[in-house]
Amino acid sequence: MQTETLNSAVEQTREEVVNWRRYLHQHPELSFQEEKTAQYVYDTLQSFGNLELSRPTRTSVVARLIGSETGKVLAIRADMDALPIQEENTFKFASQNPGVMHACGHDGHTAMLLGAAKILSGMKDKIKGEVRFLFQHAEELYPGGAEEMVQAGVMDGVDMVIGAHLWAPIEIGKVGVVYGAMMAAPDTFWITVKGKGGHAALPHDTIDSIAIAAQVVTNLQHIVSRNTDPLDNLVVSVTQFIAGTTHNVIPGAVEICGTVRSFDAKLRESVPQLMERIVKGITEAHGAGYEFKYQCGYRPVINDEQVTKVIEETVLEAFGEGTLYMMKPNMGGEDFSAFQQKAPGTYFYVGAGNKEKDIIYPHHHARFTVDEDALEIGVKMFVHAACKLLG
Ligand code: NI
Repeated sequence: MQTETLNSAVEQTREEVVNWRRYLHQHPELSFQEEKTAQYVYDTLQSFGNLELSRPTRTSVVARLIGSETGKVLAIRADMDALPIQEENTFKFASQNPGVMHACGHDGHTAMLLGAAKILSGMKDKIKGEVRFLFQHAEELYPGGAEEMVQAGVMDGVDMVIGAHLWAPIEIGKVGVVYGAMMAAPDTFWITVKGKGGHAALPHDTIDSIAIAAQVVTNLQHIVSRNTDPLDNLVVSVTQFIAGTTHNVIPGAVEICGTVRSFDAKLRESVPQLMERIVKGITEAHGAGYEFKYQCGYRPVINDEQVTKVIEETVLEAFGEGTLYMMKPNMGGEDFSAFQQKAPGTYFYVGAGNKEKDIIYPHHHARFTVDEDALEIGVKMFVHAACKLLG
């Protein structure tokens, strides 16, 4: 397919894509509750023609574009859910749902994939193989929508899968590509240190859960600094420490929770034991008890070498060298990894920040937004990559 044909098609859908994004931004829905969003996506896809639509789960949508010639099957994924945040942006299309906001750019992902579906469905007779558009619910909330969609069979017969995240930390005009491990496995832990409460003036009659829990927190830091290989990537962060009611009472218990991030499966498996050994040892040493709970979250996002190579080439061919931004992995989590379990796949970033336009707020911030010029870049990436990957 000719580059110019694709590029002019991208340009023609530009305004529509922005409008879809604004509509979705105005009507955000939380994870697993994307009823209206899914219906909107379904209706919009239906208006394109040439697509076989289905609803694999209550709030997800799949569109299949089956080309005139047989060939490979490429899946492209966009997530559609919003976050429980009260939007502080004041633009006209700010959220109309109190306390709910598209603060991660998933509105843009959905709009970009609609744009790609519109363009590619108009070229059905030139498509070899199949493009399967996956509009996924609930990326933000474990156990995540991706796994549910995979269970429903959306990846059956798929040879490759790609997806993208609009990324505000990267300036507009760049596309971020990572080979291999890209995003971490985000696990969660909960610890209760069980002491014995009592009068703060009589500590000898208590088992001071605060003093013991403080040691637990400090010693958990020894896992990364002393127990695991410095060349392996690992994060252990305590993010909550809940204890006490007032100044003269030693509380009976302390609740601690936090997150563990890793790439390597073996290392990941070893962490709960290392943690529990510390919790057990310290609480026992001081006559306290404990509870320890560890929950494995999404798998890490590991990009496939060959698909990533094609994505890198797509950036170079569709935009040029100045757009390509080879990136380091980060310790965030993404359930795109569920699709990668079923087919080789690559996730990439589309730069969406712009200091000049004051688009500087981080993801999940009440004033987060994206530079809408990034939408066109995302659509262009999808359609060019689709043509390249399907040959
Ligand atoms: Ni996100």
